[in-house]
Amino acid sequence: MILWGGRFGDGGGSKATDFTASFGFDRRFFSEDISASITHAEMLGRTGIIKKVESEHLVDALGRLRERVLAAGIPDSADDEDIFSFVERELLADIGSVAGMLHTARSRNDQVATDFRLYLRAAAGRLQEAVRTLRSAVLDLAATHPHVITAGFTHLQVAQPVLLAHHLLAWERMFARDATLIDAAYDAADVLPLGAGALAGVAYPIDSGYVAERLGFARLAENSIDAVADRDFVASYLYAAAMTGNHLSRVAEEICLWNSTPYSLITIDDAYATGSSIMPQKKNPDVAELARAKAGRLLGALTGFLATTKGLPFAYNLDLQEDKEAIFTAEDAILPALHTLAGLIATLTVHSERMRELAATGHSAATDLADYLVERGLTFRQSHEVVGQLVQECETRGINLADADLDLLRATSKLFAAESLERLDPAWAVNARNSVGGTAPDRVAAALAAARDQLNAGAAAWKDRPPPLP
Ligand code: ARG
Repeated sequence: MILWGGRFGDGGGSKATDFTASFGFDRRFFSEDISASITHAEMLGRTGIIKKVESEHLVDALGRLRERVLAAGIPDSADDEDIFSFVERELLADIGSVAGMLHTARSRNDQVATDFRLYLRAAAGRLQEAVRTLRSAVLDLAATHPHVITAGFTHLQVAQPVLLAHHLLAWERMFARDATLIDAAYDAADVLPLGAGALAGVAYPIDSGYVAERLGFARLAENSIDAVADRDFVASYLYAAAMTGNHLSRVAEEICLWNSTPYSLITIDDAYATGSSIMPQKKNPDVAELARAKAGRLLGALTGFLATTKGLPFAYNLDLQEDKEAIFTAEDAILPALHTLAGLIATLTVHSERMRELAATGHSAATDLADYLVERGLTFRQSHEVVGQLVQECETRGINLADADLDLLRATSKLFAAESLERLDPAWAVNARNSVGGTAPDRVAAALAAARDQLNAGAAAWKDRPPPLP
């Protein structure tokens, strides 16, 4: 069914709609469309734009249609151009010509923007929930390994010892920032465009306030042209998803590294690993690899959609229909990746001894020895030079700085006394770094508690978002 046949002769649009039809994907916001239409029909009745009894007919039929379609499953395809024509055809079959009153005082342009804003509020909730699941798994892993010391890296070289929990909290902080982006995407979507009509507003005494309240929208669109042209809320979700995917890819990469044979810092549970078709011994981190890869698709959805909207003339153009597949692609990429990686993190095994062993390699105590010499009167530049020579001597002898003895230290500087040897212990390095945001155990314990509180507060704030729809 098409909703615009009148001005066309036979076969109008017959070559166009194969290309332009959107039912195949806008079926995904069928429920949101029904909710918006029920509210619109109620409003038409309350304002007297249509008769009360007609409004009730429409509302009842929309409710019946929802039940019927959701029970049977929304069809994958239909002869209808889009979800709106599908709904109107079904209504027509049920209640006859009254069905044709539903489209009074609205256009598909403000209708689609309304439906999609409703959809995106719920999508933001799904994304927020998935991010929360991942954050929670990371915090749990940190909480169950509060004292484990591991290597901290810069340039993929062992740099300084850190607590594993501290490193895991660095992961979690990225996702905490994503949570604020997702909040922002929700807020961007939380505006009612219905009433904008095609672009100029509508010439009926509509009650936008009633519709906004019923659908739980925080604000009304302030300009009808902007209301049907604006897709910033779509870009906002895509940005949040792309950023989350970007962060997820960094975590996934570290999991691949830590799980690799040379590192052997963790073991992925069998349930989250896969094998090789030729090498019987292989156990591969495919889940982490694929999660890492999704960042590309998510970035593509964002940049692709921004390119689509660039230079678009006002107000509505069918280019904007592309927002749907961008969002669905992004959702389908990010949600399973987050949930699966959360499961992988929740079940992996940490090899604490190997972590500690690695933490002591790479002459990782060098900064602490340099600090020791500063305490004994050298400038940091001087102590850096002295310890650099010490490291060079260790390299020549083929030993690690952690295994140096006092004679070797004193051969480089007489300022080294017996107590300097304790600085070679990775635990010393960790305990000493008590600056704000540092890796000292007390700091990390407090940061872990604060992160958990923040996560719980975020979950509580989302409890009633989005509100239930009519
Ligand atoms: N399928 C369209 C979309 O997703 C709905 C609005 C169509 N409006 C129009 N004037 N052709 O944006």
